[in-house]
Amino acid sequence: AYAAPAPLNGIGFSSVPANLYLSAGDDRVTVPAGYTARVLAAWGDSLTDAPHWDSSGAMTEAIQLHTFGAHIDGMHLFPFPATGAAGIANTRGLLVTNHEYVDPPLVNNITPASGYAAAAITLDMIRAQQAAHGISVVEIWKKDGIWEVKRPSAFNRRITGNTPCKLSGPAAGHDLMKTAADPSGTKVLGTLNNCSNGYTPWDTYLTCEENWNGYFSNETGDAVGVSDPQQKQQILAGQARYGVAKGGSGYRWHEVDQRFRADLNPNEPHRFGWVVEIDPWNPKSTPIKRTALGRIKHENAWSVVGADNTVAIYMGDDERNEYLYKFVCANKYNPTNRAANRDLLDSGTLFVARFDAGGSGLWLPLTWGQNGLVPENGFADQAEVLIKTRQAADRLGATMMDRPEWIASHPVTREVYMTLTNNNRRGSSPPSGNNPDGTTGAGSARPPVDAANPRPDNRYGHIIRWRESMGKVDATDFEWDIFVECGDKLASQPHHRGNIIGDDYGAPDGLWFDQDGRLWIETDQIGNATGDWANIGGNVMLCADPSTGETRRFLTAPKNCEVTGVTHTPDGKTLLIGIQHPGEDWQTHYTENSTWPDSGINGPTTASGSPSAFKPRSAVVVITKDGGGVIGT
Ligand code: FEO
Ligand code: CA
Ligand code: CA
Ligand code: CA
Repeated sequence: AYAAPAPLNGIGFSSVPANLYLSAGDDRVTVPAGYTARVLAAWGDSLTDAPHWDSSGAMTEAIQLHTFGAHIDGMHLFPFPATGAAGIANTRGLLVTNHEYVDPPLVNNITPASGYAAAAITLDMIRAQQAAHGISVVEIWKKDGIWEVKRPSAFNRRITGNTPCKLSGPAAGHDLMKTAADPSGTKVLGTLNNCSNGYTPWDTYLTCEENWNGYFSNETGDAVGVSDPQQKQQILAGQARYGVAKGGSGYRWHEVDQRFRADLNPNEPHRFGWVVEIDPWNPKSTPIKRTALGRIKHENAWSVVGADNTVAIYMGDDERNEYLYKFVCANKYNPTNRAANRDLLDSGTLFVARFDAGGSGLWLPLTWGQNGLVPENGFADQAEVLIKTRQAADRLGATMMDRPEWIASHPVTREVYMTLTNNNRRGSSPPSGNNPDGTTGAGSARPPVDAANPRPDNRYGHIIRWRESMGKVDATDFEWDIFVECGDKLASQPHHRGNIIGDDYGAPDGLWFDQDGRLWIETDQIGNATGDWANIGGNVMLCADPSTGETRRFLTAPKNCEVTGVTHTPDGKTLLIGIQHPGEDWQTHYTENSTWPDSGINGPTTASGSPSAFKPRSAVVVITKDGGGVIGT
């Protein structure tokens, strides 16, 4: 008895052909006829009146602190208030973007890139990398008909891997959050691996810490300073559950910055893996890590406000066979008093999802004292339930999913959709090895297929959706179905073909509804049109009609990038998206794969120096319909 949303008024553009990178000129963003895509801001672009970074050299911390960060991911445009100058909400706003991670050789100008593993590491190199992480708050405006960064602006701001942040909520100040540098357990330096995002109805930004484990290394297998053997065992088991291991992901920060030695500072990893709330309108505000929302590898944090102003935040844990979560605020949103909402995210109930066969599901509360979340099982209090969110969810029997990425909700029905990007550890006979996108998982679980994750070796992913019981965002049961199984209609194995109506794609990641109920999907696969992707081509953004399933390719991207991040102006006439890590390949010289955007093909660039030394740079792209009009119509 699944009720589909009302039909859309159609998708009004013709599909862009798949990008198979047949010529050098295909290293570009392409949008449908009648649309224009233009680079707005790229890594290293100045946010002040100081010069732009010259990307032919190395990035430094000093330059990065006043320039746009690397590897953009989730983003949101906060329009200027519509009161005052007419139309200002659609022509001026604060664009807040995540900077998920860096490719160290690009930051430190090491070629070939494979030389990074053996390079001599200095603290200055690492500080530049840390400064390239985090968040940018950038005032943008439409000046003489063209969107550009306003600089200088009192709002422009960088938050980095070293910016002081505050911990709040039930886990703040807990013994497991205390370090030698912060005996209070309430002050953390920086936010890291800010993947996707969210925003609140009270106009704050939510940034999500995803693969933070990769910056840490436990060099010795110890937890120094923890004298109680049982406590030590629990901390080390927690590091293993979250993938903190010797060497990390190869960033090498721990060699010169001891904060990232998980053996010497065993509680420092507990201070990452949170959703962080930022007030973009106050450049002096301190980012706040909201521990009530749980500690996982957070993808995005999508808020839905119920008819009675109850607030729910949906969150995925992006790793193979991890879970879907929902946080319900204890207190209601106050639409008329912004200050009253300031600490709404500090108290409420965190749930994890169980998807049952037959299309029903349950939200299981991660509440201390219930369902085995008790001291004898390693949960001394609610703070420990939150610091060990994954272990708590394991105990409740939640459903292991095929890598939860973004979550989005329909603007009218509040129906919620989630991308499950892929999973090569599902079913009894998949190929061994790592994910198609190169990420590795901590666990070796290889669960059988189930109703919500129905394909073994799910290399193309799927999109699942659910409706809360009685339409209440705080319901504890829901109905679900699978919106689409992604795939390649020409694949040799039937279960890889999917059931897409329209243009084929795989590895769905970014997901967003516009104001009219069009579903926009962004993909994250290797992006070079080879192997499993020979027919599908590079990464894309698509538009789907949720009522019919019809799906069309709206945008194709440069080589070896990910399309991620999406936001728009309130009138729907300006769309902003991100191109992350064009040309990325840890094993080769990047510029062999991409020179976007400094090729200038999607508009003028800020590059200086010699074209032969250009580095590929992540960038925000602004898309408009020629002559005006709502994007997608
Ligand atoms: Fe950073 Fe799960 O994407
Ligand atoms: Ca993602
Ligand atoms: Ca992804
Ligand atoms: Ca990425």
